[in-house]
Amino acid sequence: MHQVCVKVYGCQMNAVDGDRLKTVFRSRGWGFAGEEEADLVLLVTCSIREKAEQKILSELGRLGKRWRKTGLPAVGVVGCMAQRIGLSLFSRYPWVRLVAGPRNLGRVPETADLLFSETGRFALLDEDPVSVHDLETPGLVRASKWRAYVSITHGCDNFCTYCIVPYVRGRFQSRPAEAILSDVKALVRDGALDVTLLGQNVNSYGKDLPEGPSFSELLAQVAEVEGLARLRFVTSHPKDFTRDIVREMVSHPVICPSVNLPLQSGSDRILALMNRGYTVAEYAEKIEWIREAFPDAGITSDLIVGFPGETEPDFEASLAALERFRYDLVHTAAYSRRPPSKAADMEDQVEPRIKAVRLNAVNALQRQIALEINRGLEGKTLEVLFEGPAEKGEGLISGRTVSDKVVLVRGTAAEYGKIRKVRIERGDAWSLFGALLED
Ligand code: SAH
Ligand code: SF4
Ligand code: F3S
Repeated sequence: MHQVCVKVYGCQMNAVDGDRLKTVFRSRGWGFAGEEEADLVLLVTCSIREKAEQKILSELGRLGKRWRKTGLPAVGVVGCMAQRIGLSLFSRYPWVRLVAGPRNLGRVPETADLLFSETGRFALLDEDPVSVHDLETPGLVRASKWRAYVSITHGCDNFCTYCIVPYVRGRFQSRPAEAILSDVKALVRDGALDVTLLGQNVNSYGKDLPEGPSFSELLAQVAEVEGLARLRFVTSHPKDFTRDIVREMVSHPVICPSVNLPLQSGSDRILALMNRGYTVAEYAEKIEWIREAFPDAGITSDLIVGFPGETEPDFEASLAALERFRYDLVHTAAYSRRPPSKAADMEDQVEPRIKAVRLNAVNALQRQIALEINRGLEGKTLEVLFEGPAEKGEGLISGRTVSDKVVLVRGTAAEYGKIRKVRIERGDAWSLFGALLED
């Protein structure tokens, strides 16, 4: 029996791809091992920023140490970065035996079996950006029994000018609604209570399906799955976020009032250069819809600083947007050039020093806002689904609210998989601390 170690980098879509790979490996008789013992180390990689790729290159260097002494592990590089530069890895790292793009993950397990009976290397790159060899399983091997993720689309056609995803993940394609429903049902049978539907732009789900459903119709269908306690979805694209989505959230209480609506910049001029397809005013209207229906909604965002041509006033507009929208959490990043995406060739690339200063400033402001929001929750009673021990703090267990806030309380493993009422005693910028209430 061979042993595999699957290491995941990048976004939630990679995390679920990693879980699905593990599920198929398990069903083919493979065991799981740590990096030091595994026969095969599979890296599920990300290309979103240069740093993400550098991290994987240094991992690859490290993995060569044991290989030089023992001939193991064989290394497989799969996912976004494999699609972008996979072939070049073969000459630099002889221990890399397999590369596979995101649309060829379904062929990885059978190819992995060949690595130990045949010599040579295997390249399963996505030659056409449409056909998909998918892994035919939901992610049954997963980090949390109670929380599960289901991809509902492949690829992205939005071509935001900073972004590499459309080049590595290929064309947008909706998975059939029946396949999604069957995955959600299988996960719920397997114990999942909290399911998140995933896509680069979930709101455009169904636009390529002649018979539908649309995204809001899909949400309504999934919300009916018996035994499902909480339903979420990421990522929403502001240009495609429609009012029907909020309506479905209102009529189906299992859909959590928790929305990730990435703004990316607070300047209309930069939003246009980014090809985002909305203005700050249009964006604000969508936030209003959500807050009108759910005053306590958890709203998160993504923000890039230092996009080419971003001036001081543009940047100040982003700071002002953080103050205006008061997000619970913001994923911030300094712009990173990603050829062949369009912005990589734009003039007026912002100096690294200025990007660093701006990143610090948005992080400091957002930290303050999150702290104020979380302190405002002190004294409230919230429902928390407990999932496991807290990362830090002895005797503390951790769970999430419907608005996706992390809550820590003193408790035991008996609470895992249960939704309990918690009185919030203290909030810091990242989490809430409280006490379990009697039911
Ligand atoms: N589909 C999602 C985001 C996918 S990428 C959306 O449309 O929002 C996740 C985040 O990485 C993006 O929201 C963006 O903030 C960031 N990102 C993408 N490309 C980047 C780049 N070239 N430099 C810096 N951050 C980037
Ligand atoms: Fe990238 Fe834009 Fe697609 Fe998101 S919507 S994955 S940011 S191109
Ligand atoms: Fe990274 Fe690919 Fe996700 S580039 S962010 S792993 S879609």
